[in-house]
Amino acid sequence: MITFILNDKLIKTDAHPGTTLLDFIRYGQELPGTKIGCREGDCGACTVMEGKLRNGKVQYKSIVSCLTPLGNAHGKHIVTIEGINMKELSPVQSAIVENSGTQCGFCTPGFIMSLTCHCLEEKPSDKNSAIDAISGNICRCTGYKSIEKAAESISGLMKDKNINNPISWLVDKNYLPEYFLSIPKQLGGISKAENSIKKGKKIIGGGTDLMVQKPEAIAESELNLLFDNDEMTGVFAEKNNCIIQASTTANMIMNSELMQSIIQEIKGFFKLVSSEPIRNMGTIAGNIVNASPIADLTMFFLALKAQLSISDSKSTRTIALKDFYLGYKKLDLKPEEFIQDVFFKIPEKPYHFNFEKVSKRTYLDIASVNTVLYLKEKNDIIEDCAISIGGVSPIPLFLNETSKFLIGKAVENDTIIAAEKILQQEISPISDVRGSDKYKRLLARQLFFAHFIKLFTKKVSVKELLS
Ligand SMILES: Cc1cc2nc3c(=O)[nH]c(=O)nc-3n(C[C@H](O)[C@H](O)[C@H](O)COP(=O)(O)OP(=O)(O)OC[C@H]3O[C@@H](n4cnc5c(N)ncnc54)[C@H](O)[C@@H]3O)c2cc1C
Ligand code: FES
Ligand code: FES
Repeated sequence: MITFILNDKLIKTDAHPGTTLLDFIRYGQELPGTKIGCREGDCGACTVMEGKLRNGKVQYKSIVSCLTPLGNAHGKHIVTIEGINMKELSPVQSAIVENSGTQCGFCTPGFIMSLTCHCLEEKPSDKNSAIDAISGNICRCTGYKSIEKAAESISGLMKDKNINNPISWLVDKNYLPEYFLSIPKQLGGISKAENSIKKGKKIIGGGTDLMVQKPEAIAESELNLLFDNDEMTGVFAEKNNCIIQASTTANMIMNSELMQSIIQEIKGFFKLVSSEPIRNMGTIAGNIVNASPIADLTMFFLALKAQLSISDSKSTRTIALKDFYLGYKKLDLKPEEFIQDVFFKIPEKPYHFNFEKVSKRTYLDIASVNTVLYLKEKNDIIEDCAISIGGVSPIPLFLNETSKFLIGKAVENDTIIAAEKILQQEISPISDVRGSDKYKRLLARQLFFAHFIKLFTKKVSVKELLS
């Protein structure tokens, strides 16, 4: 029995856990405010808020209901646009109206839910963070400027917010109906779902790959729902290792203090990965096992020389991430096995780290080519180096030979030019919708040079590299 609170109503349902939350909301509960646009996580028309009880407090995040398996709603508070409607418009709704941020109105519930969720964050707001909150929402009518103005004015209204208790502050100021105050107690009364992993059942994390690829099959399969398995979620240090458990989402990784200390620019880099709601849902194990040759998270962990802990529920084995991929979507993973965690040795500072990605759109798009460089120098000589690259091979590729070549050399134009020649021998791009093989070889070259141009402004010359 899946049990959760939808707006102010307790739901107990025997519906299949692989049904989409969107269909349950619209057709099962007849709440049509949540719109159906793309059904692929791209447009944000179906955005709802998902509240989870943690240490007595409910923390909300935006998710796309079209890719959320209903089973992932168990034990949570799901809020649709109907759930925040009151007699008068809330200040978020008013800001959209006053700034002419709505025309046909199809996208508006999604924007309102993303912005209301932003107000619920236990941190201060500013213009940029308010605009980041709507990174997963598309509007065909307004041209965005009016919506951005609304977001800016909402961030201004958040100046006095009590970040330690945003819910009661928002209820008091008429952003949220009063029933929000009773949600923690109600959620506390719902028993946790059974979370042992059963053989023969399909594993699903956030669903952001599987629910796009085979929604019909998922709606009929027996599922192992790992997304809310608290024992499989978290980022922590153990001895010299950083451990990221399998069901940790991209946003949890980005917001982890440990990861921010290891990759200082992680926030900027991860903004190029999907959108706010997709990063709230997509997990590290899902990214790795989906085995897309352009998987962004996988690129980071290849360059960090990560290893995987793989379990069959009885024993655990370890394998280097770079050896996990055997061919296009072929993995060193038996049907009864699952990923437990991803771990890597925390590199000793100082070192250089950079991410480059080219896609058709800067944001909310998958890469044509992406690459990560980790490089450590000692006395101006490269002591350690690891480079990953995507979109130029059937698998997410670790550049073994290029990385090896660079070790023991100085960062100089000639060395980088010679290393790029080795890179070209290691890759095997094909022509597809994201570009021709020739174009991808060119991108691989430019992005490889871009690492050095960005990180070593004084040691390399753009003119010489590109001559
Ligand atoms: C609109 C949109 C934009 C996107 N943009 C990007 C992007 O910019 N960059 C990018 O890299 N990706 C992107 N993605 C892809 C996706 O969000 C990520 O790959 C995500 O990390 C997948 O995680 P998940 O938990 O949702 O996977 P799921 O769909 O739940 O699962 C994917 C696969 O992993 C398996 N799996 C999950 N957990 C485990 C486990 N513990 N052990 C074994 N197998 C497991 C599942 O069985 C399935 O085969 C995008 C997706 C969408 C919908
Ligand atoms: S319908 Fe487009 S993101 Fe869900
Ligand atoms: S107002 Fe029409 S899609 Fe945004």
